[in-house]
Amino acid sequence: MVKRFLKLLGIVLFLLVIGIGVRTFIIRHDKKELVPVTPKASTAPVFDKKQFSTSDPASIWMVVNKHRPINPVSYVPADLVIPNVPLRVPGNDSMQVRKVTATALEMMFAAAKADGLNLMLSSGYRSYQYQVGLYNGYVASSSVAEADKTSARPGYSEHQSGLAADIEPASEKCDVDVCFAQLPEGVWLAANAYKYGFIIRYTSDKVPVTGYTYEPWHVRYVGTALSNEMHKEKIETLEEFFSLGAAPSYSS
Ligand code: DAL
Ligand code: ZN
Repeated sequence: MVKRFLKLLGIVLFLLVIGIGVRTFIIRHDKKELVPVTPKASTAPVFDKKQFSTSDPASIWMVVNKHRPINPVSYVPADLVIPNVPLRVPGNDSMQVRKVTATALEMMFAAAKADGLNLMLSSGYRSYQYQVGLYNGYVASSSVAEADKTSARPGYSEHQSGLAADIEPASEKCDVDVCFAQLPEGVWLAANAYKYGFIIRYTSDKVPVTGYTYEPWHVRYVGTALSNEMHKEKIETLEEFFSLGAAPSYSS
């Protein structure tokens, strides 16, 4: 009798020990499952602002302003071509732009046309000597102070890089005039230029940064990587994007 009781007790204790073991394992296992998953750090690539030079005149990120003349001032782009777009002055040297600019202009003009708007190239590459005549003309008709608000001094114009272009409607309405901003062509350009690698270089609210009055017609090719990034970050000027400091006036 006692023997049977002890045997039964042994079986009960054995089952109890097994039961506790299994329960502990399940709890531990559950706890392990419940450990919160640490979110992985964002894998979005950081935009590399050092990818291209901002000083080399042949770089698509080159920055020229009243503090940063083109270096050397005798620079002439090696790959000037005439873009296949409507031209204001066919045959004139100023209808040329660099190859990358030409390809982007052709794509942008085709997109505008598909939206029912006909654009025209008013001015592209301008040599140092061309800018001498242009700038001196502005000075003669007004003053150095007035000319400096709208025209770059020779050696300081983005147009010498072959990466800048002045755009106007094919109708020639508001050619190189702020009223261009109100025309459908100007509104379209402001909204769409970045998709083709361009920025509006001299915007109305950045005069203290660029030193030039509003030029809604003047676009600058920087490539789509940079134009998209500037659009995304809502940064209008190259000076601000690359932390180069404002360049409102010449040092002398
Ligand atoms: N109008 C722009 C600033 C230039 O002359 O390059
Ligand atoms: Zn221009």
